[in-house]
Amino acid sequence: MRKILTIAGSDSCAGAGIQADIKTIQALGAYALSVITAVTAQNTRQVTAVREIEALVIEKQLEAIFSDIRLDGIKIGMLGRAGTVQAVSNFLASFFQAGAFWEKQLKNSLPLVVDPVMIAKSGDRLLEEEAVESLKKNLLPLASVITPNLMEAGALLGREISSLEEMKEAARELLEFGCQWAIVKGGHLKGEPVDVLANKDSLYLLRGQRVDTNCNHGTGCTFSAALATLMGQGLAVPAAAKRAKAYVEYCLEHGFAIGEGVGIPHHFAAQRPWKPEALKDGSDAAKEEF
Ligand SMILES: Nc1ncnc2c1ncn2[C@@H]1O[C@H](COP(=O)(O)OP(=O)(O)OP(=O)(O)O)[C@@H](O)[C@H]1O
Ligand SMILES: [Mg+2]
Repeated sequence: MRKILTIAGSDSCAGAGIQADIKTIQALGAYALSVITAVTAQNTRQVTAVREIEALVIEKQLEAIFSDIRLDGIKIGMLGRAGTVQAVSNFLASFFQAGAFWEKQLKNSLPLVVDPVMIAKSGDRLLEEEAVESLKKNLLPLASVITPNLMEAGALLGREISSLEEMKEAARELLEFGCQWAIVKGGHLKGEPVDVLANKDSLYLLRGQRVDTNCNHGTGCTFSAALATLMGQGLAVPAAAKRAKAYVEYCLEHGFAIGEGVGIPHHFAAQRPWKPEALKDGSDAAKEEF
C-alpha cells in the first residue's frame, strides 16, 4: 500500500483539514500518515479558535516519520504562521538535499503537493500575513504542484484573479516561484468550475460539472490530498489532477449535513461500511447483546 503524508491542521468537525486528508487518502486506497501543524476549533458554521503547534513538536513529528517510513507522496495544507512554514520548509529542503538513502529522493521524484491555504470558507484567516513571504521563498520552490484557489493565487501574485483568462496567466506566472506545476482552482468561479493546470511546457483546462450543494466544506483539502495520493500511486500530474477533481465532484454529489451550516462531502460514498454479520464461530454478531 502506498504511503501518503499530510502535513496540515486539525478540523474538529472533520470536513476539512487533516481529517479530510486522511479520509481522502484512505478512500483512494493508500495509507495516510499525518503531521499536525495546528488545532482549530470549528463547526459547520465558524472557526472559534486556532492554536498552532510549536515548531519543535512539528519537527519531531516529521523526524519520527522520515526516519522510519518510506513515503510515496506528501501533501501540505494549513501551516498557520511563519515559524511553521520555516520549520516545515527547512526540514523538507534538507531532506531533499541529503537524499542519501531513498532512491526516490535521489531521483527527486517524491510528489509534494502544496495547498497554500490562507483563508477558510467561513472567511477566517488560516495563514498569518508574515508567513506569505516565507511560503513563496522557502516552500513553493520545493513543490511538485501548488494548488491555490482564486483568492490565494491573487494573494501570491499581488492582483485580483477572476476570469478564466486571468487564471491561465496566473498559472503560468506562479511557476516563477519555482514549483514544477501550478493549478489555479476555479471552485469559486461562477458557472462551470474549471481548474487551470500549467507547467513550463503546457497548459491544461480541467473541466467539471458544478454540483449544486452547500456540502462543500473542505473541497480544497480533499482535492490536494487526492492529487498527492494519485501521484504517489504513479499517475502523471495531468491524469492525477483530472481524477482528483472527479473524486471531489463525486464526494460533493454524495455530501450530507451534520450541523446547521455548511455540509460535508462524503469521502466514502463508494464504500459499504463493515458490518459484523457473521462471526468466524458461526454466531450472529448482529443479534448478540453487548
Ligand atoms: N460545487 C462544485 N462542484 C464541482 N466541483 C467543485 C465545486 N466547488 C469546488 N469544486 C472543485 O473542487 C476543487 C477545490 O476547489 P475550490 O476552489 O473549492 O478550493 P478551495 O477554495 O481551496 O476550497 P476550501 O475552501 O475547501 O479550501 C476544485 O477542483 C474545484 O474545481
Ligand atoms: Mg483551500
